[in-house]
Amino acid sequence: MLRLAATFVQLLALTRVCLAYTDALSELHARTISPSVASSTTYDYIIVGGGQAGLVIANRLTEDASKTVLVVEHGYLDTNPAQEDPSSATAYKQHLLYNLTSTPQTGLNGRSGLTVFAAAVVGGGSTINGMMLDRGAPEDYDNWSKLGNPGWSFKKLLPYFKKATHLALPDPAILKEFNITWDLSAYGSKDTPIEVSYPSYQYPAVKVQYQGMIEAGVQPQKEGALNAYALFWFPGALTKKEVKRSYAVSGYYRPVADRKNLHLLTGYRVNEILFNRFKRATGITFQARDTPAGENVQTAKAKREIVLTSGFLHTPQILQRSGIGPAALLREANIPVLVDLPGVGANLQDHAVGSTNFQFNTDIIPNPGSLTSNETFKAWADELWATNRTGPRSITVGNVGSWLPLPLLAQDDYKSIVATIKSQNVSELLPSTYDKTLIAGYKIQRNLIASSYSRNTFGAIELPFSGRGSSSLSLEHPLSRGTIRLNTTDIYAEPLVDYNTFVNPIDPLVIAKSVKFVRKWQSTPAMQQLSPVEVAPGADLQTDEQLVASLRDSAGPTTAHGCCTAAMSPRLHGGVVDEKLRVYGVSGLSIGDVSTIPLIPGSHTCSTVYAIAEHAAELIKKRTAGW
Ligand SMILES: Cc1cc2nc3c(=O)[nH]c(=O)nc-3n(C[C@H](O)[C@H](O)[C@H](O)COP(=O)(O)OP(=O)(O)OC[C@H]3O[C@@H](n4cnc5c(N)ncnc54)[C@H](O)[C@@H]3O)c2cc1C
Ligand SMILES: *[C@@H]1O[C@H](CO)[C@@H](O)[C@H](O)[C@H]1NC(C)=O
Ligand SMILES: *[C@@H]1O[C@H](CO)[C@@H](O)[C@H](O)[C@H]1NC(C)=O
Ligand SMILES: *[C@@H]1O[C@H](CO)[C@@H](O)[C@H](O)[C@H]1NC(C)=O
Ligand SMILES: *[C@@H]1O[C@H](CO)[C@@H](O)[C@H](O)[C@H]1NC(C)=O
Ligand SMILES: *[C@@H]1O[C@H](CO)[C@@H](O)[C@H](O)[C@H]1NC(C)=O
Ligand SMILES: *[C@@H]1O[C@H](CO)[C@@H](O)[C@H](O)[C@H]1NC(C)=O
Ligand SMILES: *[C@@H]1O[C@H](CO)[C@@H](O)[C@H](O)[C@H]1NC(C)=O
Repeated sequence: MLRLAATFVQLLALTRVCLAYTDALSELHARTISPSVASSTTYDYIIVGGGQAGLVIANRLTEDASKTVLVVEHGYLDTNPAQEDPSSATAYKQHLLYNLTSTPQTGLNGRSGLTVFAAAVVGGGSTINGMMLDRGAPEDYDNWSKLGNPGWSFKKLLPYFKKATHLALPDPAILKEFNITWDLSAYGSKDTPIEVSYPSYQYPAVKVQYQGMIEAGVQPQKEGALNAYALFWFPGALTKKEVKRSYAVSGYYRPVADRKNLHLLTGYRVNEILFNRFKRATGITFQARDTPAGENVQTAKAKREIVLTSGFLHTPQILQRSGIGPAALLREANIPVLVDLPGVGANLQDHAVGSTNFQFNTDIIPNPGSLTSNETFKAWADELWATNRTGPRSITVGNVGSWLPLPLLAQDDYKSIVATIKSQNVSELLPSTYDKTLIAGYKIQRNLIASSYSRNTFGAIELPFSGRGSSSLSLEHPLSRGTIRLNTTDIYAEPLVDYNTFVNPIDPLVIAKSVKFVRKWQSTPAMQQLSPVEVAPGADLQTDEQLVASLRDSAGPTTAHGCCTAAMSPRLHGGVVDEKLRVYGVSGLSIGDVSTIPLIPGSHTCSTVYAIAEHAAELIKKRTAGW
């Protein structure tokens, strides 16, 4: 049985809404082109996937008017104005997503049919996501460089975070009432493409929950974007003035859509990358998205570089289809092996998520439930939104939370947990398809996580709060690793996604510890004002073993942060791209999206993707400038 607490649903709400809407933004179609134009032009660059990273890179590469760029995107431009409202953050539209579920999850008691979240729309995840734009902790990125990726520390990445994002200061009244703090040095200047801001309303219980966190021993931080651990406020990807989604389409595509050197082909899927006999990438094959495989396949050519930005799900799939991947898998699918690269589709990570639910018997009014239970409050909120774009309807998924370090979650036994991690025989816990390079790379990742788990500057569990009694508990640094592999009977069908959630027994144990922490939080003097009573998982579950068993039954494998499936790491450690994001074993082919992350950061992934893509664009420009 899948028990879903409200906050979890809030993060991962799946509503099948079909809205009728006018083509208000249809001028956006101006620079979209027909397939015959794409196939008859030789471009400087081809970008495979016009999602979040793809649009960033397309924008930057076309700053030079002498360079031409083709972006091929499976999805369409979404012209529904409501998709830019804060409410879209919690209402994921099925027509903007791929349709697939994961393989049965042995670590989740064999549950199957669990939704895999991947965007299928121009702007990708940034067009449909929860607009929560937090960053990982410095330690998250510093440890990328320790995995053998020079140039990828927090200090080196900070300029790219800043190149993408600026902060619009919150209303003085709300920031004072809620003690919202920030540090402007974390953000870029006012003209960066993405604006982040705070909504004009917070529920009063948020103050109580914040105070309760402090009483439970969590340290507030002045600016999460610089110190993403313990307790901090974070803005949403929302413009302050218009209160609209700030995303790759509004920030990176729309302002440059009339550049003559930028072509966007929507509704087409890329099948394979083409190579010459020197294994240099020279072009792509593509066809209309819903046509049968092989029907009307066309090609487009690129002189300088082809950049894969098809997301964690399809970047590895396209590589595998093109003969770059684990040789055994390719042979099974009858694909000639161009490069035996075991890391393609391996190293899959996401934030698995458990939950708790408490009923507040003396809740403060209004609270988030008032929107459904109190007609007067709802009418006031709707009116305020309709006339002024302020009030409760300007909230996305919330703006404050705790990133709880393991020493706080497991005061008595965090050292023994760390010792257990270090003593595990990793070969027994990794997918059987991993070769010795992947095992060697994983051991280094494992040691980094183990050592970071001893520190207070590294969030083990994310616990956001927004005035509700329910909490989601996301596992920020999973030890389990999954796979994405071609469907060998139909390589054009969706690939097989195996998250391998909780296969490493430490993963559910860390969430179990956080359930106990939630109980401690609810019992603080501040929280006692609300008279919380545990509803789920249930006060009868007390031991770690009981809680772990319940989590295997109820937790979800994903918070839509799938990543790391074409990781940047040395090839001997199972990497797919080097520190310049070039695919091993070929030339003229790079990757610039979420799949290049080697170790998932303890944050939602959107802001990190902006930083990676900005960095990727600069690397690509540099290496192809001279010719
Ligand atoms: C429902 C949802 C909610 C999320 N919520 C948050 C959040 O609140 N905060 C946060 O920080 N992160 C969130 N994320 C995660 C974040 O948005 C993603 O990690 C990020 O957008 C990924 O960017 P990307 O460029 O790597 O991939 P994407 O943005 O997914 O882009 C990949 C693009 O490639 C296209 N494509 C794929 N295959 C092909 C092909 N064969 N041919 C042509 N095109 C192809 C896809 O259609 C897609 O547009 C969420 C993600 C989802 C899906
Ligand atoms: C997923 O299914 C919906 C219908 O439920 C459809 O509208 C959408 O196009 C499908 N997604 C893709 C990428 O095919
Ligand atoms: C991870 O990065 C932090 C720096 O932010 C460092 O202190 C720590 O030692 C790193 N971990 C390992 C195992 O090197
Ligand atoms: C306000 O935030 C700061 C820094 O985040 C913290 O030190 C302080 O304790 C907070 N004050 C209150 C009243 O919560
Ligand atoms: C309903 O909301 C109104 C307006 O916010 C408030 O005054 C009233 O007390 C609420 N009623 C209940 C029963 O919560
Ligand atoms: C309308 O919005 C403005 C700022 O956007 C705010 O100052 C004002 O208080 C709002 N009006 C109401 C009635 O809330
Ligand atoms: C680890 O597990 C593998 C696979 O089961 C086994 O072959 C190997 O001997 C084990 N190594 C150790 C040190 O126990
Ligand atoms: C592989 O694709 C075929 C054809 O679309 C489909 O019938 C089959 O179920 C898929 N296999 C898996 C394991 O999903």
